[in-house]
Amino acid sequence: MKGVILAGGLGTRLNPLTRVTNKHLLPVHEKPMIFYPIETLVAAGIEEILIVTGGDSAGDFLKLLRNGRDFGLKRMHYAYQEGEGGIADALSLAEDFADGEPIAVILGDNILEKGIAAAVDAFRENPKGARIMLKEVPDPERFGVPEIDGDSIIRIIEKPSTPPSRFAVIGVYMYDASVFDIVRGLEPSERGELEITDVNNHYVERGEMKFSILDGWWTDAGTFESLLRASNLVAQGASRSDP
Ligand code: DAU
Repeated sequence: MKGVILAGGLGTRLNPLTRVTNKHLLPVHEKPMIFYPIETLVAAGIEEILIVTGGDSAGDFLKLLRNGRDFGLKRMHYAYQEGEGGIADALSLAEDFADGEPIAVILGDNILEKGIAAAVDAFRENPKGARIMLKEVPDPERFGVPEIDGDSIIRIIEKPSTPPSRFAVIGVYMYDASVFDIVRGLEPSERGELEITDVNNHYVERGEMKFSILDGWWTDAGTFESLLRASNLVAQGASRSDP
């Protein structure tokens, strides 16, 4: 399976840190943020990755990551998102790269303690429809939140004021090739973006959405609070595993 990292957007919630660089190049403990999603995909057995980025610092990704060999990748690919049309708009740029194969997608500001290999393997075995990953969180209203009935997701609501569960849909998504037709049919949301939650709800309505519960901690790093939390969580993990 191929991997896609979405690292576009303007990172305005981190202004002025993002005034002269891309959010995903900022430090999280001792590495640039973008290293973590790359390592997560590589640990799940993915050998080819497309990074979708944008803005004025897109060239810096090439300088930093080069051909991806330092991470053990066969090849690193790059795509450029014009403007900030949303996560699903960024994903649409991966269609030629995917070339009809299933893909594992991760948001460039998502940092995970443990791997996603089990979920990726489950999707590799049955690569039809979609699979998302859920994590119980104290603040679900900040995320996409699923309404769950037993083993099924009924629907997902983006940043609900009254969350229907305590779970967040984390920024790790596995899709079959029909995802690109779904994105083509989307309308921009109230915030003017093509929403990944609308993509996921298409699969839910078709009865083709599965989910895995994530093991270990997870955080985004797109606000001052979560960026600091990400650095602290990584640092605590590193000191625990020191001899
Ligand atoms: O972190 C998980 C959450 O990410 C999910 O629970 C939500 O359902 C999902 O909508 C998303 O919410 P955010 O509001 O936190 O997304 P944000 O706009 O911060 O974008 C997250 C990443 O997606 C960002 O680091 C880069 C990528 N992105 C975003 C936009 C808007 C792009 O590549 N292009 C874009 O235009």
